[in-house]
Amino acid sequence: MYLLIPAAGSGRRMGSDRNKLLLTLHNQPLLAWTLLAADAATEITWIGVIGQPYDFEDFQRIINELAITKPVELIPGGKTRQISVSNGLESLPPTAARVLIHDGARCLATPHLFNNCAQALQTCQGLIAAIPVKDTIKIVDQEHFILDTPDRSQLWAAQTPQGFEVELLRACHRRGRQEGWEVTDDAALLEKCDIPVKIVPGEETNLKITTSMDLAIANFILSQRH
Ligand code: C5P
Repeated sequence: MYLLIPAAGSGRRMGSDRNKLLLTLHNQPLLAWTLLAADAATEITWIGVIGQPYDFEDFQRIINELAITKPVELIPGGKTRQISVSNGLESLPPTAARVLIHDGARCLATPHLFNNCAQALQTCQGLIAAIPVKDTIKIVDQEHFILDTPDRSQLWAAQTPQGFEVELLRACHRRGRQEGWEVTDDAALLEKCDIPVKIVPGEETNLKITTSMDLAIANFILSQRH
């Protein structure tokens, strides 16, 4: 299974002036944890890391120091995650029929989750890891007054990995560009194209590291694991 890792973001919401994936987490750059999990997942055979070219030197050093056993390619990212993934799709080897996409910022995903997603993708066109939400979610207006409370039993929090047939996802990205759709995950493009996307059980610890609080929680989880 081919794996694309979008890693071309910034550290803005973390209050950092550099890519948050280069921040240190439990004695390693954050991205190292994502790469180690991907390398340990037996179903993954090829890894594409999508980054801003000014980060490539640091990325390459991390890959070398970890002695990743699988082929790793560095792919230039874009201004948004959507553009970064689209670039990644164009850089896949021609043999890639299916692909998993996993945010570099979700550095606590386990090899087991990668393997589960890769296996489940043999039986559907598109899937995402997700978990049921625990909070009651409110839809609010611009003045912060509540408009609605959706039925919680139908709400799931989307994670990555997300997996798709490559040609199908490429077509959905093309359509998204034509229609000017702006989305924050790839499943949303399939949904807009009326293509079914399956949920596979995610992991509660599979946090997306966004704030310094997430970093502190991730540090604790890693210290328990190691
Ligand atoms: O910013 P956020 O954490 O939501 O980004 C999710 C993932 O997408 C991160 O791993 C980030 O590095 C990546 N990303 C990207 N290209 C961008 C913006 C974000 O690859 N332009």
